[in-house]
Amino acid sequence: MKKVFAVVLALVLTFSLASVALAAGKVGVAMPTQSLQRWNQDGDYMKSKLEAAGFEVDLQYANNEVATQVSQLENMILNGAQVLVVASIDGSALDTVLATAKEAGIPVIAYDRLLTDTQNVDFYTTFDNYKVGQIQGQYVIDRFDLSNEAVKGPFTIEFTAGSPDDNNAGLFFAGAFDLLKPYLDSGKLVCVSGQLDFQTVATPAWKSETSQARMDNILSAYYPDALTGGQKLDIALCSNDSTALGVTNSLVAAGFTKDNIPVITGQDCDVANTKNMIAGLQAMSVFKDTRTLAEQTVAMVSDLLSGKEPEVNAEYDNKVKMVASFNCTPVFADVNNYEALLIESGYYKAEDLAN
Ligand code: BGC
Repeated sequence: MKKVFAVVLALVLTFSLASVALAAGKVGVAMPTQSLQRWNQDGDYMKSKLEAAGFEVDLQYANNEVATQVSQLENMILNGAQVLVVASIDGSALDTVLATAKEAGIPVIAYDRLLTDTQNVDFYTTFDNYKVGQIQGQYVIDRFDLSNEAVKGPFTIEFTAGSPDDNNAGLFFAGAFDLLKPYLDSGKLVCVSGQLDFQTVATPAWKSETSQARMDNILSAYYPDALTGGQKLDIALCSNDSTALGVTNSLVAAGFTKDNIPVITGQDCDVANTKNMIAGLQAMSVFKDTRTLAEQTVAMVSDLLSGKEPEVNAEYDNKVKMVASFNCTPVFADVNNYEALLIESGYYKAEDLAN
């Protein structure tokens, strides 16, 4: 009996020592919300890749509430996190809790969204956000052949941008707008509502319901007879898929079909939007492979904890300092390349996208 106990004890000790040896450090991962598809994927990838690299992970979602995210970060610090990875809700609202991390010697990586108005952020991993907007803007230029002198237009366009508290939202909008502005100036593109500045076209919390309600208003005020030969809407430039989904729902509810729906842009290749691309309702999206972003971030965490200098290839001004960043590359996606991009790469299964 004693012998059996000794063997069991030895086994337990061996396993617990092995797991101690395996835990290369504890990482707090703060995600904004589970209500938008991509953050669930980001959270899952970060957790599994960090665990595969031997880290212990404290993953939290904050339901899009800044106060919840602050208290989650406080708890991560109290519970001994050695690195914090933060995808913020309001990138400018975390300075105080980040200062606590700084005092405790915990490095902070801003994940996807820049942490602004603070000294207390060390690195940033993201996609080239301005480039995302440029991909959308260039698509509109190519699709309507705007750079061709012989094409006179005018084509009508309405803009829908992202959440004003997310630093990315301004970059996406600027990337697209800067390319399209010459055509708005020359009159080849016309925004009938006149709603052209970022604050006016922004969508707090990136909510589909909000972009849907705004498009409902724009349609009834400026394009009431679009389906019966009146003022037509050609383009709905949307910064991402959650806002594009709301805009598409509004247009479909107003009676548009795949045969006459305006050209709608997006970003993220969310499942619902990829289905809409396949169904001919959304023209394009921008694929940001969150597996790549997670890999880069895990590599950065490993480097930081082993005293190596992380790899960077860009920098962003957070209004207080320049933050060294690793930018991943966003990729154009539409109905012609989604299979190779999303299915063959294993991002989605074919059945996930069945309508
Ligand atoms: C991300 C986008 C996403 C949006 C809403 C942004 O910060 O970069 O990929 O569509 O947030 O979740």
